[in-house]
Amino acid sequence: QPITAPDTTQCGAADLPAGAEPTNCCPPPARRFKDFDPTSVSSRTRVRPAAHLVDEAYVDKYKRAVELMKALPADDPRSFTQQANVHCANQANVHCAYCNGAYDQVGITPSVALQIHFSWIFFPFHRYYLYFFERILGKLIDDPTFALPFWNWDSPDGMQIPAIFADPASPLYDAIRAPDHLPGGSSPLAQWQSNRDVMHTQMVSGAKKRTLFFGTPLKAGDLADGNGQGTLERTPHGNLHIWVGDLTREYKEDMGNLYSAGRDPLFYCHHGNVDRMWDLWKTLGPRRTDFTDPDWLDAAFLFYDENCKLVRCKIRDSLDNEKLRTGYQSVPILWKDSKR
Ligand code: C2O
Repeated sequence: QPITAPDTTQCGAADLPAGAEPTNCCPPPARRFKDFDPTSVSSRTRVRPAAHLVDEAYVDKYKRAVELMKALPADDPRSFTQQANVHCANQANVHCAYCNGAYDQVGITPSVALQIHFSWIFFPFHRYYLYFFERILGKLIDDPTFALPFWNWDSPDGMQIPAIFADPASPLYDAIRAPDHLPGGSSPLAQWQSNRDVMHTQMVSGAKKRTLFFGTPLKAGDLADGNGQGTLERTPHGNLHIWVGDLTREYKEDMGNLYSAGRDPLFYCHHGNVDRMWDLWKTLGPRRTDFTDPDWLDAAFLFYDENCKLVRCKIRDSLDNEKLRTGYQSVPILWKDSKR
């Protein structure tokens, strides 16, 4: 059986690391939701640009959108606080099998936490998360073509925190990061060769089968196993989270911990590239296709859209970015043919 969408009226205390500042991760509860209708998607494609290549006009627009989102009341499901909490509520501490995340899986007794990392639901969940986040931003600035930038960390020029996130006066800034990993603080080119090899392994030579790339199956009632993640989710996705977070903190907030990662605007840019990798992986060889198992295709999540409506989204409607009218600026891919 597929994972079912959580019940927002049953959202409870999140399983935060011991000693972390208490947070209520739950969204405003709603009894009703509608089903995502892929045919309702706007006909204008949003093309996500590489964060290090954007121009000033774009950055102004992006900053304005995030500023407006941050200014929404904290109980508005579209507010930055609530959007960050989407991530908080959908994670559970897997090292603690008897604790629960904010959501339990519906209809499963004894209760099992819903965890959207470490398994084959990782890519689709995060695709929808960005998709709605982006639609909300677009609505706030009245620009239906607005697209989030992606952090092009798989190229030499993208191997640092993109400069647009490093201005302390900008709404794109987050003070809780590793200070020495801000632009200029590292020597990215020296590491390019090894990073290129890592990309090649995670995307090409080490990801020849679906389960290697996506991670292990997770079905209704399963408790995610922290070792179930796919190649890319583990590295570089996970490593970059920890690299951005503040290493001097016990829980490496913000980016370095699941409960706090969504509080950094860079999170959504990081995940743009993760999402781009799903599209790219499918172009790399004949067996690189999505799962056909209905327990994957019918797994469902809930998100609030730009009109504060709760939407139930199934994995089957997320597979094709073209249908979601989401595209990526085309940039050179230098790791494809790298040989170890
Ligand atoms: Cu939900 Cu980058 O993790």
